[in-house]
Amino acid sequence: MCGIVAYVGGKDCASILVDGLRRLEYRGYDSAGLAVHTGRGVDIVRAVGKLNNLDIALQKTPLKGTTGIGHTRWATHGRPSEANAHPHVAGDIAVVHNGIIENHVALRRALEGKGVRFSSDTDTEIVAHLVDEAVRGGESTLAGAVRAALKQVTGAYAIAVVSSKKPTEIVVAKAESPLVLGFGDGEMLAASDIPALLSHTRDVIFLQDGDMALLSREGVNITKLDGSQVTREKKRIDWSPTQAEKGGYKHFMLKEIHEQPRAIEDTLRGRLDVQAGDVVDEELGITEALAKKINRVYFVACGTSAHSAMAGRYWIEQLARIPSTVEIGSEVRYREPVFTENDLVVAVSQSGETADTLAAVKAAKAQGATILAVANVIDSAIPRASAGALYTHAGPEIGVASTKCFTTQLAALLMLAIGLGRRRGTLSASEARRLVDALSKVPHQMREVLAKADEVRHIAKRHIRARDMLFLGRGTGFPVALEGALKLKEISYIHAEGYAAGEMKHGPIALIDSEMPVVVICPRDVHYEKTLSNLQEVKAREGQLIAIATEGDRDVARMLVPDEAPRSSSWRTSVTQLEPDVSLIEIPSAEPEVLPLLTVIPLQLLAYYMADLKGTDVDQPRNLAKTVTVE
Ligand code: M6R
Repeated sequence: MCGIVAYVGGKDCASILVDGLRRLEYRGYDSAGLAVHTGRGVDIVRAVGKLNNLDIALQKTPLKGTTGIGHTRWATHGRPSEANAHPHVAGDIAVVHNGIIENHVALRRALEGKGVRFSSDTDTEIVAHLVDEAVRGGESTLAGAVRAALKQVTGAYAIAVVSSKKPTEIVVAKAESPLVLGFGDGEMLAASDIPALLSHTRDVIFLQDGDMALLSREGVNITKLDGSQVTREKKRIDWSPTQAEKGGYKHFMLKEIHEQPRAIEDTLRGRLDVQAGDVVDEELGITEALAKKINRVYFVACGTSAHSAMAGRYWIEQLARIPSTVEIGSEVRYREPVFTENDLVVAVSQSGETADTLAAVKAAKAQGATILAVANVIDSAIPRASAGALYTHAGPEIGVASTKCFTTQLAALLMLAIGLGRRRGTLSASEARRLVDALSKVPHQMREVLAKADEVRHIAKRHIRARDMLFLGRGTGFPVALEGALKLKEISYIHAEGYAAGEMKHGPIALIDSEMPVVVICPRDVHYEKTLSNLQEVKAREGQLIAIATEGDRDVARMLVPDEAPRSSSWRTSVTQLEPDVSLIEIPSAEPEVLPLLTVIPLQLLAYYMADLKGTDVDQPRNLAKTVTVE
């Protein structure tokens, strides 16, 4: 999400910066820009759209100089436009930034109160003004001014700062967003990721959270934000450029599966009020009056987004007590559906451009319903057509099969349900606190599940010859089952079906024999006992069971291998092949509402490894497009 490149040395840097940004294109962006010290001061060139547009702008206004910073922006605050593109300038200072400044509203108000005029809608411009304020306040060093600014900022950032007054200095800093320093010959570079550095150097330092660094031709001085010196180990990178783009992962999909803890942190950032037991979101615009007026929530979405919408429906009904329904966009648009002014239509879409979802939104809007978009791509068509937008902040998703966008949608929808529940008085503060607390633990719990990836790979290997697979779940485990089946068919081309486990007896049970792998999602929740019966039924028909259960669940273990489980008190496995036809994948114990964010991860990994073992094109499966802008 966004790319930074910085250069200080002896070479003309504009082309070096653009080349570096090109190597970060995979991160996604909608505008780009450079700030270069020309000897007389810092000049800026920015352009909306692809880097070719920046090239054209640079032909018209060449930037000559040997110190500079560059940026590709993936819009988070403010639409993609030249004014919102980075670098942002205040006085002598120019700043590029990745991440989200959490307290941007308060800081902006305070600066405006002091007479500061903003020229963009971004949170980044605040940083430029804060650094400028420190300089005007008498701070003589660039590092000191950046330090003073960052002390006021909370949130995630990687920044690079140049000053007209310091022709051979760049200051960079990092908190939660990545930043790597590169050591060239008489030159220093910094970038969001290694590919941007590889044509100049393979010697790098990965900055850690809370680090600041002053870059010059002579090298680097790294400190903590409080000014204390730190030493960071230099590493030699021997990745190929493509490997580097994928952060060492074989495919973008695998990288994105592993990015989920960080993506969820970004979705939740600044939106949970643990003390009050509530969610905060200025973008949402769900006032108490609106929350009380709604008499139906109508989700519209397609594919994976429709699966997260199904989970959203369970939560809205449970927590906000509003009747809810989910429809796929392609059906709504031709069904002459009836909407009223008291309907809240929630359009869920990663891309924000899906034609069928957009058409449904337009139909609902025409009948006076209030539209809320839950989207990943800022200022895309669906958010633009909506009254409000709840952005998931998952960052660009390159793999065609959606993974991190599914779980960030789940997090956003659960927050929406909590917000509506609180505003309608159907959810107590203590219950909301329980949920907010559960959500805040999810990134850590996801990391625990991801640590089992290798073991899931073993399970995938055992089932690689399967021609069909069944996925069963109840409650929010049902949309997870649908999502597990969709992931598998999309990328491995193995036929798969997701079912509500309660429907098993009404048909799919006829398919189960010793050839059929059946994934049963049975964590400890209100449906647990009933799902255990389904597990039993699959076992009785000799189906090849893959159970997703809560860590340490001895009942499931006993059921899977009756003789084995009670034998020792230490009988417990994280992910185990228990018998040739029985596998168990354990997830951490969690509040029932957040379980889908955890149970889906083994299913994403299972689909990924089955596809990879079969040798399919995981990131670009046949016949599929990432964004479906046609019917
Ligand atoms: O961009 P959207 O979320 O609106 O896209 C909807 C579907 O096209 C998308 O989820 C699709 O099903 C993915 N290939 C799922 O992996």
